[in-house]
Amino acid sequence: MRILLCGGAGYIGAHTYVVLVERGHDVVVADNFSNSSPGVLARLRQITGRPVPFQPLDLRDRDAVTGFFAHQAFDAVVHFAALKSVGESCERPLDYFHNNIGGTLNLLHGMREAGVDRLVFSSSATVYGDPERVPVREDARLQVTNPYGRTKLVMEELIGDLCRSDAGFHAANLRYFNPVGAHASGLIGEDPTGIPNNLMPYICQVAVGRRDRLSVYGADWPTVDGTGVRDYIHVMDLARAHADALDFLVRERRSLTVNLGTGQGVSVLQLVEAFAQAAARRIPYQVVARRPGDVAEVYADPSLAERTLGWRAELGIEAMCRDAWRWQSQNPQGYPMA
Ligand code: NAD
Ligand code: UFG
Repeated sequence: MRILLCGGAGYIGAHTYVVLVERGHDVVVADNFSNSSPGVLARLRQITGRPVPFQPLDLRDRDAVTGFFAHQAFDAVVHFAALKSVGESCERPLDYFHNNIGGTLNLLHGMREAGVDRLVFSSSATVYGDPERVPVREDARLQVTNPYGRTKLVMEELIGDLCRSDAGFHAANLRYFNPVGAHASGLIGEDPTGIPNNLMPYICQVAVGRRDRLSVYGADWPTVDGTGVRDYIHVMDLARAHADALDFLVRERRSLTVNLGTGQGVSVLQLVEAFAQAAARRIPYQVVARRPGDVAEVYADPSLAERTLGWRAELGIEAMCRDAWRWQSQNPQGYPMA
């Protein structure tokens, strides 16, 4: 297939690019680099051994999006492009609505005009908010607690309406749990701008000496050791699920919404310990107050993904830590400036 990756220069998009090229697809990356580096393209070329077709594109620019689709033919789009910081979304909700929802509307419009009728969409476990029970199934109550989460929920609903309006348009909403890790080459990985919000990149920066110590947000949660429990999933497993979702859309000609997680809950301190082992170094940490908006325990029931896509996570927490550390230790400051 000829596939467009919107936001393909970002963390999950870049890893997915590699898997799709390995599966023989013809893949084009489009991005505005608002949260990524052009340096990733050279790395993707190094991994795949071939030039990386790239299109500068800002999804907020409707004319540019429609114009781009008018001159290209695609069999499917994978849509990663979004702003993703929960804290920032609380400070600048309108920017999040404009970029994530507005950008998605422009993309859907461009796809419709060009007759592209398969979409894989990056949704998030954030749509479950504080779940009533774990493991979380796809039919759990949806509730959001911040503007970022609201954009994901609204986008799922918009895409659902479009699918219902047109029997020929099919979408896969992939609800990612907590993506971590990196490609085994150590050439691509997660490269957050500024102070990392998420646990794994923070641990990586402590390990490599860029930060003094990790703040553990609360050790008084009702969990195995008092720290927050999440479902960390290796980004290469996640990338593979996108290829499987594209195959599903072609094969089954219907839409679906699935969780992508391992089904295993891991606490903050368990992840710190696993990382310390993988990197063979101590990770200094201090326990501080709970982070506002956090929840105790979230992990997936991933069985629907196995039944529908034939997909299940294969890489465990050791591989996630080992690969995250390989990337961080080989690239202490992230991607080189282009
Ligand atoms: P990322 O920020 O690394 O990648 C997103 C990419 O989209 C970036 O390259 C950015 O420059 C681009 N982009 C943003 N707005 C754009 C626009 N208007 N036009 C063109 N490009 C634009 O994030 P990621 O971690 O790779 O996440 C990918 C997707 O998965 C996002 O939609 C995110 O919300 C979702 N998601 C991520 C996580 C996570 O923890 N990483 C968890 C659940 C869901
Ligand atoms: N944590 C710390 N210290 C840190 C960072 C995180 O103790 O410096 C803890 C958190 O309190 C939480 C756990 O580590 O218990 C994981 O936190 P992350 O920020 O890595 O991940 P979250 O599950 O809170 O949120 C992430 C994304 C959301 C997304 C969600 C599910 O930020 O946007 O995963 O996909 F919705």
